[in-house]
Amino acid sequence: MKALILSGGKGTRLRPLTYTGAKQLVPVANKPILWYGIEAIVATGITDIGIVISPETGAEVQSQTGNGDRFGATITYIVQDQPAGLAHAVKIARPFLGDASFVMFLGDNLIQDNLCQFLADFEAKAAAALILLRPVQNPSAFGVATVDDQGQVLKLVEKPKEPQSNLALVGIYFFSNLIQKAIDEIQPSARGELEITDAIQQLIDQRQSVEARQLTGWWLDTGKKDDLLEANRIILDTCLESDGLGHLHKTSKVIGRVQIGARSQVINCTIRGPVTIGDDCYLENCFIGPYSSIGDRVTLIEADLEHSVILQETKITGIHQRIVDSVIGQRVQLTNALHRPKALRFMIGDDCQIEVT
Ligand code: TTP
Repeated sequence: MKALILSGGKGTRLRPLTYTGAKQLVPVANKPILWYGIEAIVATGITDIGIVISPETGAEVQSQTGNGDRFGATITYIVQDQPAGLAHAVKIARPFLGDASFVMFLGDNLIQDNLCQFLADFEAKAAAALILLRPVQNPSAFGVATVDDQGQVLKLVEKPKEPQSNLALVGIYFFSNLIQKAIDEIQPSARGELEITDAIQQLIDQRQSVEARQLTGWWLDTGKKDDLLEANRIILDTCLESDGLGHLHKTSKVIGRVQIGARSQVINCTIRGPVTIGDDCYLENCFIGPYSSIGDRVTLIEADLEHSVILQETKITGIHQRIVDSVIGQRVQLTNALHRPKALRFMIGDDCQIEVT
């Protein structure tokens, strides 16, 4: 059994951040989204992992994630020249996959459930495919499945106008090598992509067994800003433990679970957890409210923020209005404020310089 993580794509929904970097490397609670997927796979005992990357962001994914040693896995990188669809990514990964069965994991998805039981079911049933589903309120925005009483998938439709169920397709799939033949038999969709839903439907049409299981925990597709903030909130809520290597000056006050990275200085600040602060940060005269993640080497002076993700090396000074529900890229400089609206809400890409006047 192998694993294939898809970490290419266009990332249009997370622009402007994805103009300069891979969306799968955007941190949630100061850890790249992609790494949660790798850890979930390794937790099932699968350690032979292929990661599909794009020519634009692949080098960054590769240099940050490495050869797998840090996860106890072996990682093979596979370049996909064009983001030509999820099934296309499986097709170009054939030299890596060979005849093996594999779990396919979309690199921007996060789930709470452990994958072990799903893998055990897939293997016990010797299914051609096993897909994961989650009830959602807006099924028209997803691939939607119709399932019979025995958990067999009857039909899959991509973004249906009139959905037949509320069961959305989660970005994690278990496949036998039969999926490769099914992919060879499909054509690109109207949007020009080889769709994995079409390939799975092809298996169903050929009367192969396609099983479905429902997730019980949360599922987040972090491809959009609000989902990213929600993922950050949930991970900080459920996984963060207080610890501190950095220097908390006695003029600062910490309430709740707060993590402060190595060599970071926190002077005359109030920090209300859950909050994580990276290494080598400098914070002075700030209020940092719940559900904030602050990356490495960030400087915050006279700043007030909550429920926000600030990426590495950004500098914010003299912004007294509260920054809320914001994602701010790497190396951004955000300075000064003359007027005082109640709150500021941002989605700021890497390398921006913004002066609020
Ligand atoms: P999507 O989020 O469906 O597509 P996208 O990354 O192009 O984003 P957007 O819709 O905002 O433009 O992709 C899901 C995951 O699969 C994501 O991690 C990117 C990856 N992917 C590939 O590796 N190759 C591809 O051809 C596509 C379409 C996606």
